[in-house]
Amino acid sequence: MTITAEKLKANGIGLVEFGAGQPDFPTPEHIKKAAIEALLQNFTKYTPTGGIRELKQAIVERHAKDFGSDYKTEECLVTPGGKYAIFEAIASTIDHGDEVILPAPYWVSYPHMINYVGGQAVLLETQENENFALCASAVEKLITPKTKLIIVNSPNNPTGAVVPPDEMNKLLALAVQRHILLMSDECYCHFLYDGRKPFSLGVSKNRENLLIVGSLSKTYAMTGWRVGFALGSAQLIANMLKLQSHSTSNATSFAQKGAVEALLGPQDSIGSMLAEYQRRRDRIVAGLRAIPDIRCGLPEGAFYVYPNVAVYLKRNKLTSTAALAERLLERVRVAVVPGAAYGTSDHVRISYATSQEQIDEGLRRLRAFLYTF
Ligand SMILES: Cc1ncc(COP(=O)(O)O)c(C=O)c1O
Repeated sequence: MTITAEKLKANGIGLVEFGAGQPDFPTPEHIKKAAIEALLQNFTKYTPTGGIRELKQAIVERHAKDFGSDYKTEECLVTPGGKYAIFEAIASTIDHGDEVILPAPYWVSYPHMINYVGGQAVLLETQENENFALCASAVEKLITPKTKLIIVNSPNNPTGAVVPPDEMNKLLALAVQRHILLMSDECYCHFLYDGRKPFSLGVSKNRENLLIVGSLSKTYAMTGWRVGFALGSAQLIANMLKLQSHSTSNATSFAQKGAVEALLGPQDSIGSMLAEYQRRRDRIVAGLRAIPDIRCGLPEGAFYVYPNVAVYLKRNKLTSTAALAERLLERVRVAVVPGAAYGTSDHVRISYATSQEQIDEGLRRLRAFLYTF
């Protein structure tokens, strides 16, 4: 879908892009300046594989300030993007035949990573009529002697569902009791709506059963910079470092300097982005709910909506949301992502990390298309 969308754009065709999983905001100026300054100072060589000390310090300090955690720098690893931290964690933890409990809908890359290392993803289907809430007691039912890892992603990509702190604590207690690692993907942790406060399980001070994975990509609009991190036990971090040492090596040197500024400099860009995302969320949810036969919950975080379009599939004898997404792209030039990528068959993911004008135009085209469909 992305490739087709790119081709259309290159041919000057007016596309409404609801597919992209990245902020449309530019990286804040002060962060860009720090990276430029680093380049000018010739900070262009290899760095220590696990990241410069200054950045590890900035990561643990920021996390401590925001969430009350107390990680040390040897419990921190800087990775080329949060995605690679997740891959390293899975590859360091999972052997052939091990099971990973993965709540669905899930972020698209988790099952592929699990498969790649020979693990088995055990899906826990969260329910649309419960706003995709994740419940520790449902996780518990899926634990077997082969379970090595539980993955939790809150706020969730693609649903925007948020796991409340008390349920998060129950999940961690379960992991402790059953000697399992819980990986908490905090990639969207600052984007919570309706006054919800950012929360991290890092506050628990648990090391043995908890790995935090984070990213600067969404928080500071730095997707292309490729800077992410992991916080966890010194042993697991050391294992992940070995993998990194023989695969990618360090995150880009001057991007790391920009990341230090992002974490220690002014934080107001997060609040402005959040306020704008909330306005867009309200607009797109209201617009989608006004279209007959579309069901759409209210996301509590991140910047995606995950409407149910099953009625349109059935009425038009379409076998998948991919077929619907293709027609949307061909006929009205609107790009969305079919829900199959996230483990469900009745939904499409719409990213509202785009301007309010684009949202209005996209809704207009969607309405016109579905009316005739
Ligand atoms: C849930 C989730 N985790 C992790 C990532 C990885 O982000 P990055 O590799 O840019 O840090 C993404 C990116 O879309 C995501 O949606």
